[in-house]
Amino acid sequence: MRFSLAKHTFPALTPQNPVSSRILLVILAIAFLAPGSAAFAAPAAATSDSPSPLLLGAAWYPEQWPESRWDADLQLMQDAHLHVVRVGEFAWSTMEPASGQYRLDWLARAIRLAEKHHIAIVIGTPTDAPPAWLTSAHPETLRVDADGRRAEHGGRRQFNYASPEYRAFCAAIATQLARRFGHDPNVIGWQIGNEYTDESFDPATRGQFDQWLKAKYRTLDALNRDWTTAYWSETYDRWDEIPLPNSGGNPGLLLDHKRFVSDTWRSFQQVQIDAIRKYADPRQFITTNIGGLGWSDNWDHYEITKPLDLASWDDYVGEGHLNAARNGAMHDFVRGWKRQNFWVMETQPGSVNWAPINTTLDPGETRAMAWQAIGHGADAVLYWQWRDALNGQEQYHGALIGPDGTPLPIYDEIRSIGSEFERAFAALKNTKPVAQVAILQTYDSRWAIDFQPHSKNYDQLQVLLDYYRPLRDQGLTVDIVSADAPLDSYKLVFAPSLNVISNHLAAHLLAYVQQGGHLFIGPRSGMKDEHNSLNIERQPGPLVTSLGGRVEQYYALEQSIPVTGTIGSGSASIWAEQLSVSSPDTQILLRYGQPNGWLNDQPAMITRHVGQGRITYLGALLNPEPMRRVVSWATTGAQVQPEFGPVAANIEVCRRVGASHFVFVLINHGPSETHVSLPSEMRNVLSAGQVSSIELAPQAVAVLTAGTY
Ligand code: GAL
Repeated sequence: MRFSLAKHTFPALTPQNPVSSRILLVILAIAFLAPGSAAFAAPAAATSDSPSPLLLGAAWYPEQWPESRWDADLQLMQDAHLHVVRVGEFAWSTMEPASGQYRLDWLARAIRLAEKHHIAIVIGTPTDAPPAWLTSAHPETLRVDADGRRAEHGGRRQFNYASPEYRAFCAAIATQLARRFGHDPNVIGWQIGNEYTDESFDPATRGQFDQWLKAKYRTLDALNRDWTTAYWSETYDRWDEIPLPNSGGNPGLLLDHKRFVSDTWRSFQQVQIDAIRKYADPRQFITTNIGGLGWSDNWDHYEITKPLDLASWDDYVGEGHLNAARNGAMHDFVRGWKRQNFWVMETQPGSVNWAPINTTLDPGETRAMAWQAIGHGADAVLYWQWRDALNGQEQYHGALIGPDGTPLPIYDEIRSIGSEFERAFAALKNTKPVAQVAILQTYDSRWAIDFQPHSKNYDQLQVLLDYYRPLRDQGLTVDIVSADAPLDSYKLVFAPSLNVISNHLAAHLLAYVQQGGHLFIGPRSGMKDEHNSLNIERQPGPLVTSLGGRVEQYYALEQSIPVTGTIGSGSASIWAEQLSVSSPDTQILLRYGQPNGWLNDQPAMITRHVGQGRITYLGALLNPEPMRRVVSWATTGAQVQPEFGPVAANIEVCRRVGASHFVFVLINHGPSETHVSLPSEMRNVLSAGQVSSIELAPQAVAVLTAGTY
């Protein structure tokens, strides 16, 4: 067995099984020696009086306000225990009012003043909002949409991400900023642009796509073969015949286009990383704030975050209230991009301005949301924004300060979060979530299914949550990581909808199983190879032999159908696959019931011991109750240890692990006060004192520690 100690001996925290600091030290050594991990510790060293890595902050746009007002704003921030502001993004016309005329003194003064108030700075490069002088003199830097319309000035994100001219302007402004502030003691990091969003469909980008394909396939024969272009006479004789797809198209072409878009954003970003790194102190991190509510798939988030020091995302609820499972899953998903703690670079102070109905979070909900982020591995939470601009497109957005410069009602709640962060800082320092269980994702699979969903009801986020919820209900920390991530620290790995499985990925998964891992594969897995071609083996493609079984046929369902087996009975809906077994030691755990047409009595879930581990294939989307039993079967079989103890369904338990202590964040997402018995006596960090049980009011949060730090 080649598993890490963490996998096999991770202790359950029970009174009978106190924390073993020796084991935790090993876990920590593994976790914190990961490349790049120093980067997220960087804020700690940034300002001597900054209490990071637990930072509360806001987006501040000093360029929109008279300088005489800055000190009052910063004082209000300091009073609210805010210790970081992000500045500069969108301020290009103030930083460079005319080509090559840089004006950065105002920013230097803002940074010094913030320092006086113990507020550290993240500088956003302004490249999401090019100034009018730039785009009018260089229209080729404006993006062209899928219908051929060139964007105009007056909004943002109007730039062409592939334009070499635009990139040169970005490099120049980033260089100016880094030269000036790369050694500034109060600047702790950099954010590149803002929420990379729209690609361009201009002829030059199309030419780059041709070049990208040529570099990948080398010959048109190879491309024609891998995309099966004989279908519908799609065969290409010249590279420039290949379309830049803007809606449908050949699945091989569509998948490669997504990869091209990811690569193009990555090279766009790299230009600025290079410009900044040339001058910036290594302690200053570089990130970008990722939007799309975490789940957007316009490009591959694993690829984009690879060269960054820190992953950060913008966590908005929009209309309605916090969906704790969905939002928790998104935090875990973000943590998995770099497999390290992350930042919430933007979140809503109460409400947004872009939802169909811009409702406001309830009292206490903003606090619950901030602590949920920390529980799932965030080291900072920043509100968007400090104070609304008097004019501009977002006048109705939530803020902490009104147009008159005095606090809005949400200010006090955020001030109490800031005060709690200061109290909890020592406990949370150098801690991170550590999971025994992972859910695997790839963008290739996401895209491949969404190009041809086959059922409009097949929603991949819901499928992920079908697996995620029962694991969280068991109180388990869940990692959501790329399928090609190292897996050997996990006892159990789920791969729902892993549609694209190349031979290389199959070998990686099989190695995990051979060495003792439990791999649980969900429906639609292994249908496609890396070219988005159908596998000539049936599903799950290169895993068929090891599984000793395969998918005979898949069915999109209109209605729920019964399933039954040793795990219990229940129903499936939306999707069902008829499985078969080919090996005498492959066990059938669930079958479809009757009357079910093609699926009558056919296997729905099969499992087989392989090497020192196990592969299980579930071909259906089960309804919540049978899914809960199936997940519980899987965690029991893989000997996944409980991390806390039974709690009521409305209580979320998050755990962060330190060198010789645990930190538990407990949140009551339900409508009534709830009693929680702790598995051992713990220290209540927010109210100080030892406790063995607590009462949690609706939206209440408790931060508890076990062990010493
Ligand atoms: C984000 C964006 C911010 C602001 C915010 C409003 O997507 O990064 O600049 O527009 O939305 O909710």
